[in-house]
Amino acid sequence: MSSPLLSVANITKTFPGGVVALDEVSMDFHPGEFTVILGENGAGKSTLVKIMYGIYTPDKGSIILKGREVEIKSSLDAIKKGIVMVSQIPQLVDRLTVVENISLSLTRIGMFETMTRVRRFFKEVSEKIGIKVNPDAKVWSLTYTQKQLIEITRAILLDAMVLILDEALTYLPMEERRKFYVYLNEFKEKGRSVILITHKIPEALEIADKIYVLRRGKLVGALDKASANIDKIRDLMFGEAAKTITYERFTKPYETPIGDIVLNIRNLVVEGDYGEIAVNNVSLSVRAGEIIGIAGVVGNGQRELLEAIVGLRRVREGRVIIDNHDVTNKGVKLTRESGVGFIPDQPLRYAVSADNNIVENVAALFSRKNFVVNWKSMRELSEKLINEYGIYPPRPEMHVKLLSGGNIMKTVVSRELEYASKALVAYNPTRGLDEATSTFVRRKMKEKAVNSKLAVLFASEDLDEVLQLSDSLYVMNRGVLYGPFDPVSTPRSKIEELMVV
Ligand SMILES: Nc1ncnc2c1ncn2[C@@H]1O[C@H](COP(=O)(O)OP(=O)(O)OP(=O)(O)O)[C@@H](O)[C@H]1O
Ligand SMILES: [Mg+2]
Repeated sequence: MSSPLLSVANITKTFPGGVVALDEVSMDFHPGEFTVILGENGAGKSTLVKIMYGIYTPDKGSIILKGREVEIKSSLDAIKKGIVMVSQIPQLVDRLTVVENISLSLTRIGMFETMTRVRRFFKEVSEKIGIKVNPDAKVWSLTYTQKQLIEITRAILLDAMVLILDEALTYLPMEERRKFYVYLNEFKEKGRSVILITHKIPEALEIADKIYVLRRGKLVGALDKASANIDKIRDLMFGEAAKTITYERFTKPYETPIGDIVLNIRNLVVEGDYGEIAVNNVSLSVRAGEIIGIAGVVGNGQRELLEAIVGLRRVREGRVIIDNHDVTNKGVKLTRESGVGFIPDQPLRYAVSADNNIVENVAALFSRKNFVVNWKSMRELSEKLINEYGIYPPRPEMHVKLLSGGNIMKTVVSRELEYASKALVAYNPTRGLDEATSTFVRRKMKEKAVNSKLAVLFASEDLDEVLQLSDSLYVMNRGVLYGPFDPVSTPRSKIEELMVV
């Protein structure tokens, strides 16, 4: 076997406050290899790749690049050494075009390419992957998938030898993720190395040549393609909790009669960010105790629909009636005060204030009525949520930005589920969460719907999630809502067909 392109050896990292994020972790990344790093939320995955990318310095241990120990002083230094990382949130200048963005990054490391060549190369990659983007479009006008395509093309133009993707593909629809996998496989064949972090274990098994599993900062497994299987991996990742993971429908104790209509959406027409019709004459209703799921590929109007329902986006035509009150275009404050919990798209950006701690983020929602904050009760409530959802580290005073991605999501989800007294409106409620936590959250949603007579409306790109949780489901495609369908008796193929026609 070839010698590794990059290795980390005995890396230890402790953060102020005593969290041991990494404890003597060693890994090898070979040329021509696709490595996946797995681990539950807070396991240390992002911390490890941030060390390889010069964002954090380790307390102990070494980084060996092509057989020589190196020090990586900054991200720029990492890029110069051929290590490039793409993360969840695109790091692009919105006002510049695609080509300008790429050229700018090239000049930052002293590489020069003419705009014409950058344009040609970008076109080549986008055609190869099969995602259309105009190289002269301004970045602000592009979709999330298109932005991630720019990120990955840029990394390749920066001549990445080691390409790190920290959940960079997590938010993409499955179809498009697959296109990227095909391309990345070609890329690795050229003697490069790909390192991917994901919570999608079945996909990891398909694409990985090698899998490393981290658990609470320790390396607990190194498996090759032949020895890896889903049960083994889940066991390494979660231990006992692996048994709780399920995609079966929640039945029996939850079979309760369904109440009155709480969310009543009539002939809704809503514009997208650029004035296009994103939601086209959508009607649906959700009763107390009922869960309605919307399946669909990202970018088909789900986000706009949910935002319009909670009052964050203007309704052009139609009505939003919550609990018999017409709240159309009356704003988000009113909806929230009437007891609606909301998990938005990109919760890490829109649902929490990263520079505030957990208690303050909880108080921001629960104390909005009177502006007199009872800090003692907010702290108690935060402690309760931390315990229940296993937010780690269990510290109410922790600044949200210092939590791992999944733990930030847990903070949002737990707060919104706790707050919701009439309805919960949620977009991808388990994104970024590990499988055990995702199962837990879905079970909680079900329990809350039934026990507190909550009306739940959620959209998800994960069809398994929609099938598991919905009493009744719809498919949204190009702004049009198809359904309702019975999740038990409707063939999956029929639903998938409607998603892509
Ligand atoms: N700057 C920081 N200060 C304090 N603690 C930190 C900091 N960055 C990370 N941590 C802690 O280190 C631990 C590991 O976090 P990390 O982000 O590496 O997890 P992860 O495996 O990427 O999880 P996820 O799947 O949720 O993204 C967490 O407990 C986190 O709170
Ligand atoms: Mg992470």
